[in-house]
Amino acid sequence: MSFTAPIQTPGLTLDPQWFRRSVFYEVMVRSFVDSNGDGAGDIAGLSSKLDYLQWLGIDALWMPPFFQSPLRDGGYDISDYKAILPEFGTLDEFRDLVTKAHERNMRIVIDMVINHTSDAHEWFQQSREDPEGPYGDFYTWSDTDEKYENIRIIFVDTEESNWTFDPVRRQYFFHRFFSHQPDLNYENPKVHEAIYDVIRHWLDLGVDGIRLDAIPYLYQSEDGNGEGEPATHEFVKKLRAMVDEEYPGRIMIAEANQWPREVAAFFGTDDEPECHMAFDFPVMPRIFYSLRSQSAAELTRILSETTDVPDSAGWGVFLRNHDELTLEMVSEEYRQAMYGWYAYDPRMRSNIGIRRRLAPLLDNSRAELELAHALLFALKGSPFLYYGDEIGMGDNIWLNDRDASRTPMQWTPDRNAGFSTADPGKLYLPVVQSLVYNYTLVNVESQLAQSRSLLHWIRNVIHVRKAHPTFGLGEMEVLPTDHDSVLSFVRSYAGSGTSFGDSAEDILCVFSFAHNPASVTVVAPRFAGRKLFDLFGGGEFPAFDDEGRVQLTLGTQAFFWLHVGGPNVTPTLPISTVDGE
Ligand code: NOJ
Repeated sequence: MSFTAPIQTPGLTLDPQWFRRSVFYEVMVRSFVDSNGDGAGDIAGLSSKLDYLQWLGIDALWMPPFFQSPLRDGGYDISDYKAILPEFGTLDEFRDLVTKAHERNMRIVIDMVINHTSDAHEWFQQSREDPEGPYGDFYTWSDTDEKYENIRIIFVDTEESNWTFDPVRRQYFFHRFFSHQPDLNYENPKVHEAIYDVIRHWLDLGVDGIRLDAIPYLYQSEDGNGEGEPATHEFVKKLRAMVDEEYPGRIMIAEANQWPREVAAFFGTDDEPECHMAFDFPVMPRIFYSLRSQSAAELTRILSETTDVPDSAGWGVFLRNHDELTLEMVSEEYRQAMYGWYAYDPRMRSNIGIRRRLAPLLDNSRAELELAHALLFALKGSPFLYYGDEIGMGDNIWLNDRDASRTPMQWTPDRNAGFSTADPGKLYLPVVQSLVYNYTLVNVESQLAQSRSLLHWIRNVIHVRKAHPTFGLGEMEVLPTDHDSVLSFVRSYAGSGTSFGDSAEDILCVFSFAHNPASVTVVAPRFAGRKLFDLFGGGEFPAFDDEGRVQLTLGTQAFFWLHVGGPNVTPTLPISTVDGE
């Protein structure tokens, strides 16, 4: 696949593979910083914190919808694709954000919710009122609610059917999500044109990529399950061709909550590419399973499954995001175990998942938070952090639905956690005030002041990752071990100049999920006789023996990132950590 040079904005480096090297940060505009004291975060507030994000080592922001919306689904219910919700700011403020981000070589990816709109969208209003009019076929209407019976209901907590009767048009309309989110009808070519127009609008404003929300669900068929139907893939290919042709260098990310092979289908092929990236939904719940079961077997299995991914495409890996921790991609047995460990209070559950943040899920265990992040930053794919998880923010399960983990960012111990100057009662959601995660204890300011805080630790790991292009661009091979609690893989990249001076690089990554110290033998015959060096401090470890075996001892829930050097290598130390800057 060839890339033409992207149109350059000041500050941005020319790098067609930027998304594979990037550390992403998901930031909900509403939740980050309120610049005008109205109680809700806004775009100007986000712009004011770009220095913080740059300091942390963030290369790209993912911004969930900030468009005109009744906000009945966190903005994923759009009523005007081209307008910004006034409480979030103006188009000029958005332009300013893009410019300021690009000046810092930081990219911006925005959400494109193209499967459905809000029922408040003008298209839907016209469709229901005037079936013969220009928008009459913009949605999927039917006289019966018995079509597409193979299609599952996603929001099982609130919806009983994927069809809702509209009293105005006196027909049923189809919806995959809430009944106020009618699905657009992709059988209608005019819908394609309208969506292209919206996407061009935002790409023209300089955004660097789009996350395609709910992408498997565009088309339905009587026989299929409506998830990744052939016609959906055809549409995504066509969209990719348009993006490559008109906006080279910009990217498309698939949100497809499916099994590995089905998600991988959204990468397309070298000849007919679809998305540049896809979120790795199958891996994420298995990380949480390993942490409690102390078994790495299932994680090892899923990571070993080979899926055809074009060379220039990449996974997006994540621990948490603005949705529930979905348990759709695990077996019923695993799901029940996970509910038992992580959602022992029914209020913690939502649909088929768990509506909690990372730190409370891990019971605020520093060892588990470090282990989970070390894995996130070492896996094949680009890591996506969720705002606030870098300081171990808590959640509020007394709030509705997924709002539990969308509370205001905690900046300081002051009023409203430094998020807003509004009367506390006016905030869009209250700040977290629980015993353990209270904003007076958990906030950016106090963690900046403690050199051993989670925030500093995460920043350091991000910078070590960035010093080794292997993590972003290298291959991954899972290695056998003799310990059920230990996951081991090697990341390899031919051609990176590293702190060790080699032209190619291999990094051995070992993670122990055991709740006690563990001794493990890792086997990699191709590394027979090679030396190992810690990637953080440079310390030398036992070498692989002549058969390519090495015995390592790990503390409770500990990990190693080890450079595999040649037999005669002496590294030039220290490796580039932030502390050593
Ligand atoms: C996926 C989004 O991540 C989620 O927040 C939303 O509710 C659904 N799509 C429907 O748009």
